[in-house]
Amino acid sequence: MTPADYLAPYLPPRLEPVEAATAYAPANIALAKYWGKSDRVLNLPANGSLSISLGSHGSRTTIRAADADSITLNGVLAGEDSPLHRRTFVFIEHIRRGAPQPLAITSENTIPTAAGLASSASGFAALTRALNAYWQLDLPDAVLSALARIGSGSAARSLWHGFVKWDKGEQVDGSDSIAAPIVSDWQDLRIALLPIDSGAKKTTSGDGMNHTTATSPLYAAWPATAARDLATIETAIHTHDFTTLGATAEANALAMHATMLAARPALCYLHGASLDALHRLWQQRADGLEIYATIDAGPNIKILYQRCDEAAVRAAYPQAVFINPFVLAG
Ligand code: DP6
Repeated sequence: MTPADYLAPYLPPRLEPVEAATAYAPANIALAKYWGKSDRVLNLPANGSLSISLGSHGSRTTIRAADADSITLNGVLAGEDSPLHRRTFVFIEHIRRGAPQPLAITSENTIPTAAGLASSASGFAALTRALNAYWQLDLPDAVLSALARIGSGSAARSLWHGFVKWDKGEQVDGSDSIAAPIVSDWQDLRIALLPIDSGAKKTTSGDGMNHTTATSPLYAAWPATAARDLATIETAIHTHDFTTLGATAEANALAMHATMLAARPALCYLHGASLDALHRLWQQRADGLEIYATIDAGPNIKILYQRCDEAAVRAAYPQAVFINPFVLAG
C-alpha cells in the first residue's frame, strides 16, 4: 500500500485551485513520544503518542500558482536540491499526481529560531491544511491527519490545538493511524523552551528512529513502555494530575533517549549542556519547584510547569521562551 493508493478514493479526478490559500498549524511537544516506524512508506508508527500543541507558536503557510515549484521558509528561498524543497514537493505530489500545476509555497515560522524547535510538525500540518483549501479537497479530519502523518509523523498531531493523541492504529493502509484532540478543560500546563543549541541536527528524527529500531537491543522494550506511558498521561490529563503527567513525560523521554544510546553505533542527541541542565532541574525539583523535563531528537530541553509557578520558573530560567499552549492563533 502506498500513499497514492490510500488517498485515491478521497481525491477528485481534476484539481480545481482557488487563487491562494493560507493555513496555520501550531507546533507540538510530545508528552508520550513517537519513536520507531512500523511502515516507512505510509509512515506508520511503532507506538501511539500524545502531545500538547503550542498555541500561537507554529507555521503559517500560503500556496499560490506559479511558473515553477518553489518553497520559501522564513523569507529564504530553498534551493531545488535542498532537503526542504525535495521533501515538500514529494509530499505535494501525493495529491498533485503529475498535474501541471506548479506552486509557490511561502511559510513563516512563528517560533523564535533561537528556541531550537524544529518546524517539520507544524510545517507539514499547515501545508496539509493549505493544500486542502487551495485545491478545495474538503478532506475529512481523519484523512487530513493521515496525510500530514505521511509528510512527518508528528505533523499528524499538529492539526489541532490543546492535547492531541495519535493512535498507532491497526490497519495496513494506515487509515486508523490518525490523531485527534483530547477533550479537556485543564489549562494549567505551561512550557518553557530552554535552548541548548539551535543549530541543525546531524541525524534527522526519521533516520534516528530507523537506526535505533534496527540496532538497539533496548528498543524491544520501547513500544510497550510507550503504550503504558501514553495511557498514564491521558488519565493524568483527565484527572488534572500534574505530578503524574510531568513525571511520566520525563521518564518517557529519557527511556526514548536510552534506546538511542544503546544503538550501535550510539545515537546521542544530548549535549553535555543538556545533561547539566537536567541535573540543575532535578536539584530545583528536589528543592521544591515542581518542574519536569522532556527532550526530543535534539539537545534542547522543554520544561513542563504549572501556571502557579510562572514567576518562579521565569526567575530560574531567564533565557527560556515561555509558552502558554492555550493562547491560540490561527
Ligand atoms: C522525538 O515526526 O520528526 O520528536 O515521521 O520521520 O518525520 P518523521 O519523524 P518526526 O519524529 C518526531 C520524534 C520526536 C517525538 C515526537 O514528536 O513524538
